[in-house]
Amino acid sequence: FVFEQIFTPNPEAEKPTPIRPRKGVIIGVGQVGMACAYSLLIQDCFDELILQDVAKEKVEGEVMDLLHGMPFLPPTELKGGTVADEGKDADIVIITAGAAQKPGETRLDLVGKNVNIFRHILEDVVKYCPNSILLIVSNPVDIMTYVTLKITGFSSSRVMGSGTVLDTARLRSLIGKKLNIDSRSVHAYIMGEHGDSEFPVWSMANIGGAKIIPETWDSLSQNDKDELDSLFNQVRNAAYEIIKLKGYTSYAIGLAVTDIVKAIIRSQERILTVSTLINGLYGIQDICLSIPTVVNERGVLKTVNLSLNETEKNQLLNSAKVLQEVYEQLQL
Ligand code: NAI
Ligand code: 2OP
Repeated sequence: FVFEQIFTPNPEAEKPTPIRPRKGVIIGVGQVGMACAYSLLIQDCFDELILQDVAKEKVEGEVMDLLHGMPFLPPTELKGGTVADEGKDADIVIITAGAAQKPGETRLDLVGKNVNIFRHILEDVVKYCPNSILLIVSNPVDIMTYVTLKITGFSSSRVMGSGTVLDTARLRSLIGKKLNIDSRSVHAYIMGEHGDSEFPVWSMANIGGAKIIPETWDSLSQNDKDELDSLFNQVRNAAYEIIKLKGYTSYAIGLAVTDIVKAIIRSQERILTVSTLINGLYGIQDICLSIPTVVNERGVLKTVNLSLNETEKNQLLNSAKVLQEVYEQLQL
């Protein structure tokens, strides 16, 4: 064969390599799964990336399209497959499969459909990727993270949701734009549910150490209060707005997922508002929601003990209550 004369094989290379490639699987390659795949590839996160979906032809087409871009990128072995074959023993499994919101629907409206889809998907994940870290993206993400924990029986360090990493980015981006400051230098968090009950931690938000609220909320002028409320409302309503305009959200969540994946595979000990199991904080028991959390190669390493003010504590408890009410209707 003409290509054979290009190389001289090294017989020693037959020995098994001691270095294990870093493998990721994305389950669900719709708008969100593909935005994740693209962002993970261009940021060189995995040695092997497997795309899994019930829509087999879509997987084939997406893999072909991305493969044609590989000469522009650092190498990643990209394949279609499942956790049961090519994706077996993956390090990280990212789940974006399932129904997405239609205009006007809330994230919580998706719960029934997506729990059923997850039951099916997770059986194989447990069987074939028993040591993986699971990163849940499908909505309602806090509920799906909890469902995943219960169905898989994995430790809470190895199951996290993308939570309010996206909402936190939305807030930072809006503040950065307003002040003409790099949004990475805006230190502000959205906590709680990734959904309608989420809230901004204004009491600690700062830029270069300068607090956005120097004293208390009540000491602000009405104009300032209105402006901060308006910023937060833009964050909370962002998904509704974008879905109304383009039908789905994709790029920002793809980048958010990549940031979380990098924190895991490069063991960065980054503080990210992933959705994680809370047991004890402010009396919250057995609920997955977002608080600032240290993420490294073990997954969820520890959570940050914040001194929330009374309003923020009540907002966190309200998110927990909203989620608890949904759990009570789930039959797990
Ligand atoms: P989409 O409809 O474009 O894609 C969903 C994909 O899941 C489809 O390709 C479908 O074939 C696949 N799928 C369905 N059942 C499956 C199964 N059993 N196994 C494998 N694949 C299966 O939806 P889109 O826009 O990609 O959204 C996906 C999910 O991500 C939704 O639940 C959406 O609400 C959520 N989302 C979450 C965000 C977050 O911040 N956590 C941000 C944006 C979307
Ligand atoms: C988002 O916030 C729809 O949860 C999705 O973009």
